Amino acid sequence: MTPDPDPDPAPAPTADQATEDAMSNATTVSPAHSASTASTLITDIAVLVTNDPSLGDNSPLGLIRDAALVIEGGRVAWTGDQSKAPATDNRVDAGGRAVVPGFVDSHSHLVFAGDRTEEFNARMSGRPYSAGGIRTTVAATRAASDAALEANLTRYLSEALRQGTTTFETKSGYGLTVGDEARALRIAAAHTDEVTYLGAHIVPPDHADDPAGYVALVTGEMLDACAPHARWIDVFCEKGAFDGDQARAILTAGRAKGLHPRIHANQLSYGPGVRLAVELDAASADHCTHLTDADVDALASGRTVATLLPGAEFSTRAAWPDARRLLDAGVTVALSTDCNPGSSFTSSVPFCVALAVRDMGMTPDEALWSATAGGAAALRRDDVGRLTPGARADLVLLDAPSHVHLAYRPGVPLVHAVWRDGVRAV
Ligand code: NIG
Ligand code: FE
Repeated sequence: MTPDPDPDPAPAPTADQATEDAMSNATTVSPAHSASTASTLITDIAVLVTNDPSLGDNSPLGLIRDAALVIEGGRVAWTGDQSKAPATDNRVDAGGRAVVPGFVDSHSHLVFAGDRTEEFNARMSGRPYSAGGIRTTVAATRAASDAALEANLTRYLSEALRQGTTTFETKSGYGLTVGDEARALRIAAAHTDEVTYLGAHIVPPDHADDPAGYVALVTGEMLDACAPHARWIDVFCEKGAFDGDQARAILTAGRAKGLHPRIHANQLSYGPGVRLAVELDAASADHCTHLTDADVDALASGRTVATLLPGAEFSTRAAWPDARRLLDAGVTVALSTDCNPGSSFTSSVPFCVALAVRDMGMTPDEALWSATAGGAAALRRDDVGRLTPGARADLVLLDAPSHVHLAYRPGVPLVHAVWRDGVRAV
């Protein structure tokens, strides 16, 4: 087993640790090999979540009990009953723990600087807060160096990895000038393929008297500078941000430059965002907190995933989105963190899973599916969010006998180990 090349990895176990772990029936590791070339068997898995309903118990999670999994060349090479596992170069004993796919966090805002502790403290203390919210972060982000922005980003990525996130999307949206948006995306693109241009987060104070001029900038010069660094384009479609017509113009312009749409929709109020998302075949409509029956019907009729972000409702004491209503209508639901310094400062997908189960009507199985396969669907990916042969070997070993513990034991650090691209990363 080789150490992860990341700047801040948890070290792979040393020989002494391996012995110690073996004695406590935890992870044991056979002699070192490169994970990229050698095969590794993970065995004694109490329950393996594959997200392939053709496997195991044939539930949507495709649960295999007393399972094993083989990693080879950064991919899953085999899954099945541990008694039938093939011979491999390396062997890891999972010690009767559960294994789940690495979490796919399909919505975050991690390129930022500054701090909004006082805003949160005031909100939670019932005191009025008069500072600028997103504008506060925009000012701090513009003032920060590239190095400071990147250091902040890697800090939160490392935090997320330790909590089991192996794929993440992140956005610009706190620069709101041509140069500041483009550098945010450039910095993000060094760390993930899932980069989203969100020049249309709010109309910045410097364009307060000319929102049409700002939309022209977002769809013109700023788009030209940003498109090379991004895969997606997003708009905050909300009263006080961008209306339906502006959102349509921005997303359509982005599409013409090869970016694919996703939308912050129906977060704070009812509005056109969700229906626009479906109309434009956006990969995802994010938030979906205020939905009419027509919005739910539209989502059920299209490919657009409804991405729910309970960290935002938690951190703003807002009403929860109704996941049950969406699931019962046949909508594909993803669960993500929305990690940002204002409305949802958590990088923890397990925390969001627990909230979704406790307060949004999801079963533990549904919430885990949405945080893995659902996130992958929201990014139109089929190589992550599942543990079946050919998928990327992104997996989380939980310090628990069942994936249900993610909701049953809220707030407990259950991530025992993480493999990303077949390499032990935590
Ligand atoms: O997704 N809704 C808009 N954007 C963020 C909030 C960002 C902020 O408050 O800084 C969100 O919740
Ligand atoms: Fe967001």
